[in-house]
Amino acid sequence: MKNTERDGRLAGTQIAGSMLETIGGTPIVAMRRLMEVEQLPCVLAVKNETANPGGSAKDRPALQMVLDAEASGELRPGGTIVEPTSGNTGVGLAIVAAQRGYKCVFVTTDKVAPEKIALLRAYGAEVIVCPVAVAPEDERSYYKVAERVTIERGAYRPNQYANPSNPKAHELTTGPEIWEQTNGRITHFVAGAGTSGTITGVARYLKRQNPAIQVVVADPDRSVFSGGSGRPYLVEGVGEDFYPAAWEPKMYDRVIPVTDLEAFTTARRVSQTEGLLIGGSGGLAMAAGLVVAREAGPEDIVVVLNPDSGRGYLSRVYNDEWMAKNGFLEMRGTVVRDLVDARSTIIYVSPETTVRDTIGLMRTHGISQVPVCQGEPPFAPAEIMGSVHEASLLAGGQMDDPQWLGRSVAEIMRPALATVGIGETLEAAAMRLEGSSALVVLEGGRSRCILSRSDVLSWYEQQA
Ligand SMILES: Cc1ncc(COP(=O)(O)O)c(C=O)c1O
Repeated sequence: MKNTERDGRLAGTQIAGSMLETIGGTPIVAMRRLMEVEQLPCVLAVKNETANPGGSAKDRPALQMVLDAEASGELRPGGTIVEPTSGNTGVGLAIVAAQRGYKCVFVTTDKVAPEKIALLRAYGAEVIVCPVAVAPEDERSYYKVAERVTIERGAYRPNQYANPSNPKAHELTTGPEIWEQTNGRITHFVAGAGTSGTITGVARYLKRQNPAIQVVVADPDRSVFSGGSGRPYLVEGVGEDFYPAAWEPKMYDRVIPVTDLEAFTTARRVSQTEGLLIGGSGGLAMAAGLVVAREAGPEDIVVVLNPDSGRGYLSRVYNDEWMAKNGFLEMRGTVVRDLVDARSTIIYVSPETTVRDTIGLMRTHGISQVPVCQGEPPFAPAEIMGSVHEASLLAGGQMDDPQWLGRSVAEIMRPALATVGIGETLEAAAMRLEGSSALVVLEGGRSRCILSRSDVLSWYEQQA
């Protein structure tokens, strides 16, 4: 029997014709306990995109992009799809590709949680992991690698950042669903923006129905959308260091910056109080949603879009050790903060600094090691690239060679200094200092200062 004949047999049943038919139609759920605890005047509800088969909002644009590429002839039967993605779009594309007979190659960065990469591979996709701490124009950047692989394999590249089918998917499905599910009574829509497909697509539809609906962008506080440079922040999938094609400022009434700390603690709070397991970007959207809801009136309905599940972040946002190491949790007893409270600067060198200048800097500050970091402080952990130590400078015995002194530290640097969370115990820091001459102290996921062995020794000495 052919599938077309089988489809006829499904008529009148509630059996979906394939996984593709289960994309969309996600529920909106009131945040009952949060509304109560916060004594919110309005209704605060979540459009829960984890109910999609791939577990995220990205199933929608994935399907739309493939359908539109088939229609335009860009994607032919048995073809290959190549996309640089932080995970969710990959899952969506992998589901659509499996069902429609395409191969998938995904290019991603080492900032992405390892579970997400394993997940893409589980769907049968090939995944190429690139370093996050390189400029977009660098040949190793994930944008560049994706370009190269697309050409080499004669593949179709959906390019969610520039593809109009991405916002179109949300304009055709997510927006109308929210309008109908709230009976046209939605007053505020809050979502994070990465490609901006979700927020723009939903905004286009909702504003056509009622231009008074407030559309609010929740944004990592260093991303360009809220006026930052695009770094550093650790929440995944949202915020950018450039403006994607779908970014349409006239569609948004407000942009609310949210720190990693607020995003992660809100994610944990929603999971624990509502039984809705959300990821870091869902926490970010909810943190902004709470800001909006606290200011709203009794007639208002605030809908926050939750893009994906906390299951993809069990080793990060939901791991106490990771949270503490990155400076998001405070331990009991004497903690690193007690030693470094007054310090807020980090002495560092850039990868292109010469060996000569590095030695000069270390002498000026009377320090015996210095981290090599990409960009401007504060640094995200992935931007702390290596270290230079007095011992390693002397080790080569090339000090009198003037050419060697003129080289960049990137050529001679050693592995990065270990890190310690500002809320971790002094004991934990002391143990880590056995293997690292100094530690980079992280607060809220960003570098704050350096903690050296002598800092810890003199603290103990003063206490004695
Ligand atoms: C986890 C997560 N949240 C939010 C977004 C943002 O959605 P959009 O790209 O439609 O702006 C993404 C996008 O990749 C994401 O992966």
